Order: sequence, then structure tokens, then C-alpha cells
Amino acid sequence: MTTLIVNIKELLQVREASVLKVSGAEMAVLPTLKNAYLLIKDDLIAGFGSMDDLPKIAVDTTIDATGKIVLPSWCDSHTHIVYAGNREQEFVDRINGMTYEEIANRGGGILNSAKKLNETSEEEIYNQSKARLEEVMYLGTGAVEIKSGYGLTIDGELKMLRVIQQLSKNYPITIKATFLGAHAFPLAFKDNKKGYIDCIINEMLPEIAKNKLADFIDVFCETGYFTVEETEQIMEAGIQFGLKPKIHVNQFNSIGGIQAGVKYNALSVDHLEIMKPEDIEALKNTETMPVALPSCSYFLSIPYTPAREMIAAGLPLALATDYNPGSTPSGNMNFVVATACIKMKMTPEEAINAATINGAYAMGISSTHGSITIGKKANLIITKSIPSYYQLPYAFGSNLIDSVMLDGKIY
Ligand code: NIG
Ligand code: FE
Repeated sequence: MTTLIVNIKELLQVREASVLKVSGAEMAVLPTLKNAYLLIKDDLIAGFGSMDDLPKIAVDTTIDATGKIVLPSWCDSHTHIVYAGNREQEFVDRINGMTYEEIANRGGGILNSAKKLNETSEEEIYNQSKARLEEVMYLGTGAVEIKSGYGLTIDGELKMLRVIQQLSKNYPITIKATFLGAHAFPLAFKDNKKGYIDCIINEMLPEIAKNKLADFIDVFCETGYFTVEETEQIMEAGIQFGLKPKIHVNQFNSIGGIQAGVKYNALSVDHLEIMKPEDIEALKNTETMPVALPSCSYFLSIPYTPAREMIAAGLPLALATDYNPGSTPSGNMNFVVATACIKMKMTPEEAINAATINGAYAMGISSTHGSITIGKKANLIITKSIPSYYQLPYAFGSNLIDSVMLDGKIY
């Protein structure tokens, strides 16, 4: 099956296969091709070039993209889209003056979602989650990482990871699974933190590894959640089971989580709303991708990741949604890209790089996703007819997507 997209106004993020991430000043450069064609064979990109050099070949389908822009699908490297119910009431409580922390301290927050998840059947969780997955696919996301972390029991965590596995089997979007048993201490272990960590390491991890249910391990390293020492202990155990760390750090406090992540060669360190100069320093010359989650900052009214300082320091940066019921009930990567430009002062080029190639890197898939490169997955966004790609962040509330392609097929 071959598809040829012709008359593309501008083809974005055209890269050599050797580019797996972009850092610092490179982030401002978005290589593009104007008046282009793109050839797709089965589920892969097979060729592209200027319309002036369009090869004469027979294809199964031709798509005319006159006036439209084509780019690689968004790579959303941080989500919690498998969950039960919602936390609308906590949203209203926050409007009325309570803080996220106060809500968590009264047994709400993550524990509220964990209670709901453990009371909901696997089938029902699957059905609620698939609706969110379908929503983000239509919003242009072509690869997504999904975390567990609302089970906080062996059964609950396994249930979540099986749902992620089922979604991955049933949908053309690329999915990576992360085990986040260390998201919060469950009530049953309120006064026995060591007991819960032992349960994660000695009971959950072996079962998850045996059933190949996760690619990565995550820990919420934060005051009131998991300490740096506990985070290191859990990362170390995860690594022994073949799970690379991707961790939650510096959301509310800078307590050394970034340094711990770097020490264990984490694939990514995510959130980064509160950054000290030494945190930026620690990320220099490492393989760890910093990931910003601007929709979370927006929804909780907390600081935005200091993108300008980080890019000026030569660091790479990825953007993701953090789609979850408590801090970010939105999986819209278009909004993330716009908010990164508007609130974090990233340029459109930087934000698009952060949401494609660097997002792919933060899920360990940048050799197959995140750019227009021969041999990479044909997961694409085709925009409506727009004046330029600046419209993507500029017209921040509009849906500018005409269609999406996943695995070489228009979805
Ligand atoms: O990434 N910070 C930790 N975890 C989630 C929020 C979890 C929740 O409130 O349900 C986050 O923001
Ligand atoms: Fe998160």
C-alpha cells in the first residue's frame, strides 16, 4: 500500500536519521521543505522532496495537500490517561481557595483516584481510557507514554498496566508503558512507608517484569511523597528489572530529584516547575531529557518551567501534556505547544521540536518517531489550509488539524 501526499505547502521537521534530539540553540532550527511531496509505503515514510522533483510512480492513494502543512505527529511522553472517573469536585474546591496540597492532605488527590480505580472493573477502565486515547489521536498525537500509579495495590497497578497493554494492541498509536507504583503512599501503608516500598520492589516489580507490562519506571519524587533516597532505591530496583527511569521531579519543591535522575541515567526528568541554578547545571552534558508540562502549570496556577534559561544553558527540552484527572485534565498537545510559546516564551520552532523529536527521545523512540525521515513511522498531522506554521501556537484555541495519519493510514 503506497500513499503519495502532493502539493504540501510546507513539510516540517525534515531530518537525517542521525538526529535523535535537539538541544540549546539547535532547538530554534526547524528544518522544512516548501512545496513538497511525501511518499508513504505501508506504515513507513518512504521518500519526500520538492514537487519539482516528484517521481513518476504508480501509487494506491494520492492526497492533495494544497495550502496545508504536514508535520510528524505529536509525541506526548508523559500522560496518566488510564484512570477511573474524574476529580471535578477538587477542581471546584481549588476555585474556592483550597490548594492541590491541602486537597491531597485531606485524602483527596491521587488517593481519591486510587480509590475510584480500585472500585472500577478493568473493562470499565478500558472503556473510559480508550475514549481519552481516541480523543488525543484526533488531536494529532501519534505516540504516547501512559503511566500506572492510580492502583497503588498489586491488583490495581497490574490492572492499569493490562489496560495500557490492551490499548496498545487495539490502536494504531504507538504506546509506551510506565510503572508508577511510587506515585503516593496508599492509606494502608500511611505509617509503614518502608512496607510499601518493599511491596513495590519485591512484589509489584517482579510480576510486572515477568509479564512484560512496562517499559519504564517512574517515581513521584516530592516533599510529602517519595524522598530522594526512596526514589533512588526504587529506580535502582527498576533498572535491575530492565526498566529505565523517567521520573516526576521539581513540581513543587527542588529537593535533589534531578540530580538523582541524572545519577541513575534517567531517560527523562519531568515537571521542572521549580528549578534552582544547580538543577540546570546538573542536567548539562547528560543523556537525560528535561520535560516540561505547561498544561499542568496552567491548570494548577503554578510556575512554568523556565524554558528560556534551560535552552540558554544548552539543554534540550521536551513538551508533554501530563493528561491526568487531578493536575491536568487535558491531553491536547496543540494547547501545550501554544502555551509553551505564550507562557514560556519558546519560539514556534522550539516548541515544535520539543513536542516531536525531543518528545520521541523522552520515550526512547526517536529512531522511529518524531521527524520526517525515511524509514520512520508514517504518523503525521495534516493541517487545514493555514498561512504558516506560526498559526499552530498563534490561533491557540482553534482546531487547525484537517486529518491525522497513523501507521500510514488516515485515521
Ligand atoms: O504529574 N505529580 C504527580 N502526578 C500527577 C498528578 C496526579 C494527580 O493529581 O492525580 C502529575 O501532575
Ligand atoms: Fe505526571
